[in-house]
Amino acid sequence: MTKEVSILDKTFSLFISSDKIQNRVNEIASDLNKRNNGQNPLFLAILNGSFIFASDLLKKISFGCEISFIKLASYTGTTSSGKITTMIGLSESLKGKDIIILEDIIDTGRTMKTLLEMINDHNPGSISIVSLLLKKDALIEDIKPDYVGFEVPDKFLVGYGLDYNSFGRNLESIYILNEK
Ligand code: IMP
Ligand code: MG
Repeated sequence: MTKEVSILDKTFSLFISSDKIQNRVNEIASDLNKRNNGQNPLFLAILNGSFIFASDLLKKISFGCEISFIKLASYTGTTSSGKITTMIGLSESLKGKDIIILEDIIDTGRTMKTLLEMINDHNPGSISIVSLLLKKDALIEDIKPDYVGFEVPDKFLVGYGLDYNSFGRNLESIYILNEK
């Protein structure tokens, strides 16, 4: 396994190996399988970051479910701090459905907070949150994910779906930024 990777102008060190990730993803899937009481939820994976996590997790889900992908569009004006304004790709009705959000990482929690508000507007039956990673010390918003794969420090990570300037999503393991 590669211990160090270079992406653009930065170097990163191995932080969570692909084996560890796979084991944890399998554990989360079996928890979800155990807790399922016959509901047929709609998994809502947040693009781009969660595509690999969603793919690996869903292969291990044994109950009937739907899966959809949404992308969040943020307004990037001169004064904007990246405020999320739109959900792209939501074609089905969420009304009355049990929604399970799949996210790669929760940092400040702002993205998740906005997303929850947007989903709530569609009157779902229930909402749960599954996030592969949680930067607990960076969390500002009152967000309580139902499942977290790993609690991670407030440092920049890349790989397994996470990007650095759009690169590195294809890495099998998760890497942490080397600080100089
Ligand atoms: P939040 O709104 O501050 O919780 O940020 C969440 C979003 O920021 C995630 O969906 C990621 O796209 C991005 N993000 C946060 N931390 C990292 C990181 O360490 N590496 C790559 N992307 C990150
Ligand atoms: Mg994301």
